[in-house]
Amino acid sequence: MNYNYLIFKMKVVSIVEKSFIIKPMLDEIYPVIDYGKGVYLFDMEGKKYLDAASGAVTANIGHGVKEIMEAMLHQAKKVSFVYRSQFTSEAAEKLAEKIAALIPGELNWSFFVNSGSEATETAMKMAIQYWQEKGVQTKTKIISRWVSYHGITMGALSMSGHPGRRARFVPLLEDFPAINPPYCYRCPYNLEAPSCNYLCAQELETTIKRIGAEQIAAFIAEPVIGAAGGAITPPKDYFKQIKKICDDHDILFIADEVMTGFGRTGTMLACEQWGVVPDIVAFGKGMGAGFVPIAAAVASDKIMEPILAGSKSVMSGHTLSANPQSCAVSLAVLEYLEKNEILKEVESKGVYLKNQLEKLTSQFPFMGDVRGKGLLLGIELVADRGTKTPFLRTLSVIPKMIALAKEKGLLIYPAGAGLDGVNGDSFIIAPPLTITKREMEELVYLLKDTFTAFSKEISAGTEGDH
Ligand SMILES: Cc1ncc(COP(=O)(O)O)c(C=O)c1O
Repeated sequence: MNYNYLIFKMKVVSIVEKSFIIKPMLDEIYPVIDYGKGVYLFDMEGKKYLDAASGAVTANIGHGVKEIMEAMLHQAKKVSFVYRSQFTSEAAEKLAEKIAALIPGELNWSFFVNSGSEATETAMKMAIQYWQEKGVQTKTKIISRWVSYHGITMGALSMSGHPGRRARFVPLLEDFPAINPPYCYRCPYNLEAPSCNYLCAQELETTIKRIGAEQIAAFIAEPVIGAAGGAITPPKDYFKQIKKICDDHDILFIADEVMTGFGRTGTMLACEQWGVVPDIVAFGKGMGAGFVPIAAAVASDKIMEPILAGSKSVMSGHTLSANPQSCAVSLAVLEYLEKNEILKEVESKGVYLKNQLEKLTSQFPFMGDVRGKGLLLGIELVADRGTKTPFLRTLSVIPKMIALAKEKGLLIYPAGAGLDGVNGDSFIIAPPLTITKREMEELVYLLKDTFTAFSKEISAGTEGDH
């Protein structure tokens, strides 16, 4: 062992063992990242990971992309920060113009923020303000679904149907989650689409009537349910029905596309897959693709008209909103998607990967459901496939699965499941959209290896239960 290597090792050990960062699990030791390239990440020990989660469904064009680094440097040489009430910038103007051009309908007005939570919260505030500017003061409630996640700040958490993340703060939160999700694997009505007549969508109408449309500003939903549900994907006409109910009752439709936006399902907006155009959209994650913190609430002309004619100011904003550095990088990400026609292949890659995952079900009985759209796929795990019985909570199967995968050099993303949002286990597979066929084969190989190890652990862990 040479001297330089020893020094390097000591540095790694000191970073890992003496840390003042409040990490997700304070008693866990996390590998120290060194660098990333494409779909791979390398830690300081030289271990290679296939990033099948794009971090947190974020690194949509992979790691270490040269064009993005160049855009970063180019903007940094000019100016990185100006405050939005003092200046605008070429980068921010061009980004807003690009977003308006890329997404459908009259969704033309971008409010830039720094995280998905800020984006959904700004969308919520815009919806309430829209009604106020039209002279309707009572429409301040939002309706959302159980088994959903819209962010961690108090407004966004109020909209989130995620019992685990709400629990500590319930007395401070609004009870916005009100209706069931379109969770076909565990249909709350024990029916099947389309003969179910989309009763889960019709619940929205019943809820609106119960509360009173005059109280409700908007309905918010994720097109594909991410962290709370492991890629729960609605049936064909679900969102058409939802949009019609919203329109019929003068309620705005906010699409939370923080996880799905800018290509994750194969279209710029996942809503396009279900043929609907929302009134307001929240973007995050893929918008900066992990290179910078940036997100946006994007409103249609209809939303902006009364505000432009009224107060002329949307009541939201953050110090770093629309900073030129983040905007320039996000613009480079969107241009990269366009120039390399990345979206063209997302659907076929998704179909291929989902087929490969489905093939594993014959070997691994704990695979309850394989679902998702494009490259946002999820697997729900069950103790008994026939009865769909979830694993005991005490078995902590998802942390186990994530740890085993990581050991094998595969990164997957934990998610919830179960109609109550508590009794269920799933995880997400959402590699960078740039993943190749060979890399998908490697992903499936590593996952199979992980599942084999998981089978052994689970049978060892449950033997004592009998
Ligand atoms: C659909 C959705 N909305 C909002 C958020 C919150 O985004 P952020 O973590 O960037 O605040 C997330 C994060 O996972 C998300 O998946």
